[in-house]
Amino acid sequence: MDKLAVLGGDPIRREKYPAWPIFDERDIEVVTRTVKSGRWGGFPYPGPNTAEFAVKFAEMQGGGFAVPMLNGTITMEVALRAAGIGWGVEVIVPAYTFQATAYAPMVAGALPVLVDIDPDTYCIDPHKVEEAITEKTKAIIVVHIAAQMVDMDAIMEIARNHKLLVIEDSAHAHGAKWRGMGAGTIGDFGSFSLQSAKSLTTGEGGVLLCKDPEMAQRASSIIDCGRPKDPEGLEYTMGVNYRWSELHAALGLVALERFPDQFKERESMADYLEESLSEVPGIKMLKRDLRLTRRSLYRYIIKIDPEFFGCNNDTFCKALTAEGIPVDTGYPPMNHYELFQPGLSKLPVPSAFPEYFDFKSMSFPVAERASWKESVWMGESIFRSGKRGVDDLIAGLNKLVRHRDDLNALNPNA
Ligand SMILES: Cc1ncc(COP(=O)(O)O)c(C=O)c1O
Repeated sequence: MDKLAVLGGDPIRREKYPAWPIFDERDIEVVTRTVKSGRWGGFPYPGPNTAEFAVKFAEMQGGGFAVPMLNGTITMEVALRAAGIGWGVEVIVPAYTFQATAYAPMVAGALPVLVDIDPDTYCIDPHKVEEAITEKTKAIIVVHIAAQMVDMDAIMEIARNHKLLVIEDSAHAHGAKWRGMGAGTIGDFGSFSLQSAKSLTTGEGGVLLCKDPEMAQRASSIIDCGRPKDPEGLEYTMGVNYRWSELHAALGLVALERFPDQFKERESMADYLEESLSEVPGIKMLKRDLRLTRRSLYRYIIKIDPEFFGCNNDTFCKALTAEGIPVDTGYPPMNHYELFQPGLSKLPVPSAFPEYFDFKSMSFPVAERASWKESVWMGESIFRSGKRGVDDLIAGLNKLVRHRDDLNALNPNA
């Protein structure tokens, strides 16, 4: 009789899902060429590979002036610094995202104000953004989570009404489009990560897309030790070395060539998944907003009904992973990251403004439910594993449906 793999039964899938990143001769060739050129580093900025990548990346994403740099965290710090947003002003960020989204304003000297998410999309809730605005608010950082995008129409209207800067953290949204507009090109800035897990990767790296070319100039100066980038060579900034290396940029040029086919493959497999997913009891998909005209499959989130399964998402993820389908529970609520725990009070911003950092007293019911009860995150590799890989996922889910009494026994207090 079939038995859950987590209880010693046979798993649904023994074959591993495809590895990431992938490479071929082109990567070896372009890195070899860069090594032989002797131009490895990012100085003077930008090097030839970086400059070519910047133009092609902006083209792929559909607009803006791209400034590549070390990663997709400092991109947001640099955006805030370039826009003059720093000490003691408030920056609204979602309570459900990677910690980098709140780290960036803090390191720029600003105060992250966390707001809850929309239960249908897990992206920041525009109504809650509006409620959180005060006279000190200067910017909103929104995050396009997994295959979703934030309601950018609502966010841009709020930003216009309150004269706020908008940064789109698009670390998950390479190639995604909202009403035909590329993620990261709608707000003032778009921030992208190229870290090894991302659906477009160079191992490490980040790109800041700037709507305004002057902001791009200033951002380039900040990441190049403050050297002036304006045509007159007069504007020095307070800068540091956040330059990207030419070796990473070389990999980026090949990654961009491969990206359109990979994107299509992931997208079509996600459509295939959703045909069957809607039939699995106890599982819900996040809402598909028709204005999200192209979605990017870095991660894909489903919601379980914890009452139906008699367990929380943690037990569910362990059981599905044991079946050979790797999934995890995703982000904790932002106020529970270690970054924000007691030692933080020694850092400059929290010690100057402790009232903003009493994270223990904060509560974000939607983010908390997502993190601790219902969200199940899957990786992009499932969408590169062909119909078989997706069918195995569905078979794994159905097995958990059949064995929900066992799941409940594993997690009786859920
Ligand atoms: C939403 C989000 N923002 C920012 C980042 C930071 O990117 P990086 O690791 O390149 O600094 C990540 C990385 O996982 C992310 O998921």
